[in-house]
Amino acid sequence: METIKVGLLGLGTVGTGVAKMIFDNQEELNKKTGYAIEIIKVAVKNINKKRDIELPQAVFTDNPQEVVENPDVQIVVEVMGGLEDTKDLIIKALQNGKHVVTANKDLLAVSGQELFEVADEQKKDLMYEAAVAGAIPIVRAVKESLAADEITEVMGILNGTTNYILSKMSQEGADFADVLAEAQELGYAEADPTSDVEGYDAARKTAILASIAFSSRVTFDDVSVSGITKISARDISYAKDLGYSIKLLGVAKREDNGQIEVRVHPTFIPNDHPLAAVNGVYNAVFVKGKALGDAMFYGRGAGELPTASAVMGDVVEVIRNIRSGSNGRIGCTCYNEKNIKDVNDVVSK
Ligand code: HSE
Repeated sequence: METIKVGLLGLGTVGTGVAKMIFDNQEELNKKTGYAIEIIKVAVKNINKKRDIELPQAVFTDNPQEVVENPDVQIVVEVMGGLEDTKDLIIKALQNGKHVVTANKDLLAVSGQELFEVADEQKKDLMYEAAVAGAIPIVRAVKESLAADEITEVMGILNGTTNYILSKMSQEGADFADVLAEAQELGYAEADPTSDVEGYDAARKTAILASIAFSSRVTFDDVSVSGITKISARDISYAKDLGYSIKLLGVAKREDNGQIEVRVHPTFIPNDHPLAAVNGVYNAVFVKGKALGDAMFYGRGAGELPTASAVMGDVVEVIRNIRSGSNGRIGCTCYNEKNIKDVNDVVSK
């Protein structure tokens, strides 16, 4: 059986999950792709750190260029995070003929268009299912399964950490700081948890979904954001008394005149609404389409294996494309329209 050679940029929570899936699911992956998968290079900050995964010491490097320039690497999996340096690495990987799978929502929400243009030029795959809502296959659903429909709204709980915090505060009366520390220990929170609690992480995911759903190029700066840091135990208790739950929602809508509204903020949800029942690290996304009507997607939004599952789904698709010679078939350079509504106007209504 032929082998597909993978290079990893990063071996944190998600990278470790990816490596575990490649080892533990080898038979399943062989059946589904017709190839064996081997990790041949891994870029990490500290090559001597003790790790939860057994890889030969020779695969480790502290120089990420050794991954993107390695002539044997066919697929680069970027799970290190970061912006400018990581963007350069992804571009270099694509230009060096590699396909790229990334979970980097921060980068895609700012520079997605530029990266897709390079992938299109190079006829290489650039996949990013894990960038939005962890294990939920929402990127593929909106980009492919619902591609023929006119989507009018995508709305949901897109950050596992804040949903975990709000759920625990509501169910157990827990203290904000204690639950945040727990979410960090469980590997749900971002390296800088400000991104989670201030709503920036949800805003990045909302921008990515809005771009795909509306064939636009909505970026992080276009999203009006308010996080959960000002939500107190008392707010949650009042909401409960009135029959509501407080959830951090990301909302992206397109109006008939083509204007796009994108925002993230805590929202009172009536307890009989399905989103009110989404607790813990779970995410849920509602999609409204003219032909579709309503659909709701639900699953784990963060964590090692749920996020790795989304990354590996992309890796499997890239390998199938290699097999059929159809890499780079989904061009994204057509995403040019940008008509963002002034959200202050929306919020005041
Ligand atoms: N910090 C993110 C979350 C990780 O809590 O949802 C997954 O993107």
